[in-house]
Amino acid sequence: MNNPLRILVGCAALAAGLWLVSSPAPAGPPDLPKDSYKKAADADLKFLQTRLDELAAAAEPAPRSAKVAVGTALMLSVYADALGDATLKADVLKVGEAVDAKKYKDAATLGKKLAVKPGAAKAGDLPKFAPFETKFAGKDKVNDLRLMYLSRTMAISSNTQVLKVPAGMNLEKDLKDWTAKANPPKLDLAAVELLAVRSAVLNEFAFHNPNEKAMSKPEFEKQWKDFSKRSVELSKDIIVESTKKTPDMKVLRTKLTLLEGACTDCHGKFRFDD
Ligand code: HEC
Repeated sequence: MNNPLRILVGCAALAAGLWLVSSPAPAGPPDLPKDSYKKAADADLKFLQTRLDELAAAAEPAPRSAKVAVGTALMLSVYADALGDATLKADVLKVGEAVDAKKYKDAATLGKKLAVKPGAAKAGDLPKFAPFETKFAGKDKVNDLRLMYLSRTMAISSNTQVLKVPAGMNLEKDLKDWTAKANPPKLDLAAVELLAVRSAVLNEFAFHNPNEKAMSKPEFEKQWKDFSKRSVELSKDIIVESTKKTPDMKVLRTKLTLLEGACTDCHGKFRFDD
């Protein structure tokens, strides 16, 4: 029974198990249904292409609009990674680089060539965006580097328009409206699923990119990780519930309310430096 090979295999499995336990959580795409990733990729590619056309056509392109375009490119590279679409992953980051360099016409031209084609490539870590990595290289700039990833991806949550400038995808306001105590609207399940994919991915970025205040004390860092992890988990739950044949609307509203609470809790503690 106990032949040497079996013992060896058992030891290897044990060693692999221990390695899994002791290594930090990988910084890869959150584990969401591929179908949900596909829908988000299609929607956000459209959003990005429209934004790039606006930036290319504007006499004075607004930094806020460009910031959201970079954030959207980062988000899309994660969806592409989860979908095994290595081409989209690489090309959408190039589009982001063109936006970062204010080459809006080039970005719009490149953007038109992007397409979502799920494949078999293996998912890796969250993207490294070359312009940020170059500008903020070195240990002394690590807080600035993290803030770039954080602020660009958070920016997609901002209102559709801010001071009449095209801005984000309205996540923050939609969540507030959908969970209002008085007369909340009927939930649009497709919109809920889409918001939850975006929220899962942007909160994964947040988890791995705590800001300077969060890094100033171990207890703050722990709170930051708890808020962002909870937001990712709730977003996953929301996707599961909203894609059921007969979703339980009460459960869905409860989870959305908890998610809105996690966003607000983190903002209350960490969004504004005092
Ligand atoms: C772990 C902490 C944390 C969580 C969780 C979090 N945020 Fe944020 N958020 C921040 C911080 C910090 C900033 C400010 C970033 C900066 O300095 O640019 C921010 C900024 C924002 C902004 C302003 C972006 C802009 O450019 O105008 C919006 C909108 C936003 N978050 C929405 C959300 C939503 C919606 C959720 C939940 C689905 C959420 N956030 C979850 C920490 C968090």
